[in-house]
Amino acid sequence: MRGGGPSDSDTEGLLSSLPTMWRDVAGIADVGPGGMLPISVDALELLLWRSVEGRLAACDRRCPHQWADLGAAGAVDGEELVCLSHHWRFDAAGWGSKLSVTGRRDEKAPVEVYEVEEREGRIRLRIDSSMTAD
Ligand code: FES
Repeated sequence: MRGGGPSDSDTEGLLSSLPTMWRDVAGIADVGPGGMLPISVDALELLLWRSVEGRLAACDRRCPHQWADLGAAGAVDGEELVCLSHHWRFDAAGWGSKLSVTGRRDEKAPVEVYEVEEREGRIRLRIDSSMTAD
């Protein structure tokens, strides 16, 4: 018979049963068209960015290529986020590509994206327990 607190499997089961939460992370005016805002949510380092046309997106702050910090080495170009280290590009859904000077687009690794919404002047990010677990 074991005593005391819950086992690791008990804890995992409890965490996975917690509801998904929406977290208030910024004001809408903090990320204007073509803008970016690095944020931290618990252990997650993320980037909010908005396309020139106004579509809001959230992704991991680290580029999937060689881990450049997209908050420092990124820029919005039209409807895409570009990593200026080696010019990989990501759309709001996270799809990665590289555009050659001749216009050929090659698929690259995706960046992890997160669901965001804008409500009552605030930006909210959808978080579930698996995203913030150590
Ligand atoms: S580190 Fe981002 S494209 Fe290479």
